[in-house]
Order: sequence, then C-alpha cells, then structure tokens
Amino acid sequence: MRKIAFVNEKGGSCKTTLAVNMASYLAGVAGKKVLLIDTDPQGQSGKCLGMDVKSAPATTLELLLDPALSVKDAVQPTRIDGLDIIVANKTLGDFQTEAAHDEDRAERLKAKIQPIRGYDYVVFDSPPSLGLLTLNVMVAASEIVVPVSLTYLALDGCAEIVDTVESVKKDYGHGKLKISLVVPVLYRNTRLANAILEKLGEYFGDKLSSTRVGYNVAIDEAQSMGRTIWEYAPNSRGAQALEAFAQELIAAGS
Ligand SMILES: Nc1ncnc2c1ncn2[C@@H]1O[C@H](COP(=O)(O)OP(=O)(O)OP(=O)(O)O)[C@@H](O)[C@H]1O
Ligand SMILES: [Mg+2]
Repeated sequence: MRKIAFVNEKGGSCKTTLAVNMASYLAGVAGKKVLLIDTDPQGQSGKCLGMDVKSAPATTLELLLDPALSVKDAVQPTRIDGLDIIVANKTLGDFQTEAAHDEDRAERLKAKIQPIRGYDYVVFDSPPSLGLLTLNVMVAASEIVVPVSLTYLALDGCAEIVDTVESVKKDYGHGKLKISLVVPVLYRNTRLANAILEKLGEYFGDKLSSTRVGYNVAIDEAQSMGRTIWEYAPNSRGAQALEAFAQELIAAGS
C-alpha cells in the first residue's frame, strides 16, 4: 500500500488539485482501491468532489481526537468507483490546541491508518503550513509529492520541506520516508519559470517530474462544479497533463 502525501507549506500550490485528481485517476481510471484523507481545515478535497463537508458524520478531526473511532467509521464512499474519502472541515483547526499536550500528537494519523487493509493507495491532502497536521501527514505517509508553482519564492518552500522531511526521518524513526516526486505546476513558458525549473532540476535530479502542469482553466472550472477533471473535461489539456503526471506517479512506485 503506497501512502502518498501532497505537501507544500505554500498556499495555492495545487496540493488539493493533485490529491483529488490523482486519487480519482488511480481509482476511476486505473481501477485501484484508493482512500483520500483530507487533513486541511479548508476541507477542499471533499468540496472538489461535490461533497457536503460541513455535515459529515465523522471527519479527520474526530479520527484524530476520538480513540474509539476507527478509519472505517470515518470513511465515506464517493461517486467514483474505488475511491473512498475522509473529509475535513474547519473544525479540524481545533486539533493543534486540543492535542497540544499529548505526547503522541504527531503520530495519531499514523496509528489510525496502520490497521487499514484493502486499499492500494492512501492519498493525503495537507494544509498550507508545516504545523502539527502536516507533521502527522509526514509521519503517516511513506512518500511525499511536492507540487511547486514556478515562482521565485516557491524555491524557499522547497528547501523548508526537504529539511522537515529530514527531521521527521530522524525524530520519528521514519527512515523510509522519501520525496518521491517534485512536480512543477502552473507552468508558463517564461525566462524566470524556466530558470526556476532548471534550479529544481539541479536540486532534485530525477525526482523532478518530466510533466509540467500548465495553467488550464478546465482544471479550475471542474473544481467549481465539484467534479474531477476526468468527469468534467477528460480531453482538455489540463486532463492530458494530469494524466501524464498520474502515469509518472504510478511508475514511481514500481
Ligand atoms: N493547472 C491549473 N490550471 C488552472 N488552475 C489551477 C490549476 N491547478 C490548480 N488550479 C487552481 O488554483 C487554485 C489553487 O489550487 P489548489 O487549491 O489545488 O492549491 P492548494 O495547494 O491545495 O491550496 P491551499 O494551500 O490553500 O490548500 C485552485 O483554485 C485551483 O482550481
Ligand atoms: Mg488545498
């Protein structure tokens, strides 16, 4: 079972877009069994799938705080074959303070997903910070995918994530954690974007995906309608780029 987390502390770097569209590709197109876990209080993974995240009977918050609640109790099916989800909503913002004094606060998610069986992939969407929720995701995941928008300041965030991964490996005995792919997003063919791309290549080597996901309005439109790109515009340039990246993601696991 691969446990893939989309992580970048920078807001708006396409974590949710990739988490939702990769999870739905792996399930709906590649025929795998996938669990998507939203760990962002913005609750956008569920929203992108057209789900009502406010009135969900159990969310990631209850999963993390209620010792009696298991993954099975928090999971909801989606309309996509093979894709289940645990949704989040803004109540998840309470986690950091509620769990602040608990010794196991960074290892809750790992402990909760440890007993699950029957999924080929667990995919995590994470919030735009490197706080306790993202720490839980890193400790629980087996690999991290970093989407990077090709702007100058985005490079800072990359160095930060690499450092955090190194400390998680040491502090939580999670030596197997790795950054499996770094994917350039919102790509435009400008001199600055290409220079940043070159820097990423020097820094990450073959972990830098060969797919660059450019700006394509169909990706945004699909989300505004609560649909995946595979449902809304499967022949768009956005879908083609996301499919190419999905293939790289699948190949990275073999
Ligand atoms: N390739 C694309 N083309 C056009 N719009 C895109 C593309 N990828 C993402 N977007 C849009 O960019 C916005 C930010 O994307 P997204 O929400 O996935 O980022 P995020 O990293 O999850 O943000 P946050 O840090 O707030 O959680 C969204 O409105 C999304 O629809
Ligand atoms: Mg997001």
